Amino acid sequence: MFTLPELDYDYSALSPAISADIMQLHHDKHHQTYVDKLNAVLQGSPDLQNKTIEEILTELDSLSLSEETRTAIRNNGGGHYNHSLFWKIMKPGGSQPSTELLGKINEAYGDFDTFKKNFAQAALGVFGSGWVWLLPDLTITTTANQDSPLLDGITPVLGLDVWEHAYYLDYKNVRPDYIAAWWGVVDWDEVSKHLNIGSTV
Ligand SMILES: [Fe+2]
Repeated sequence: MFTLPELDYDYSALSPAISADIMQLHHDKHHQTYVDKLNAVLQGSPDLQNKTIEEILTELDSLSLSEETRTAIRNNGGGHYNHSLFWKIMKPGGSQPSTELLGKINEAYGDFDTFKKNFAQAALGVFGSGWVWLLPDLTITTTANQDSPLLDGITPVLGLDVWEHAYYLDYKNVRPDYIAAWWGVVDWDEVSKHLNIGSTV
């Protein structure tokens, strides 16, 4: 059985970038619902119950399942994995990228601002609900709904939730303001960990 992970910080700790109201609703209601629905669908697939969510999503296409079950796992398992990562890559006040990480980003994008601009552009380009991701090779990609890069066997190192439930209470329909504020709570040390590089600034 999967469980809702505890946050490492209070609901109000990411304010004003993300308000306590959004955090509580997003974590306690939205994420909890993904966990509950994932557990419900796995009732019918006992052989999947001992696997990690990463294993389930990575192997999903090759598992022998009805299309209805596969879709339910894709949506709710994806929702569980994506949000679990999202909570972890944020922290109150954020943190600066280490020299090593910054060097890699600069190599890929020229400078940090250009990287942020590209990431924000990708986030604005998500039509409807979805996510924008930074992948281990430092490319940026987006997915619709709760699809995870894990479905393609790729473990993301950073993800931004651009579903309206992630920002509407604070920013209404102004997604660019949400993205701009979100940079201030990104924990780049956590991103470095996912990339297996040093986190010392
Ligand atoms: Fe979300």
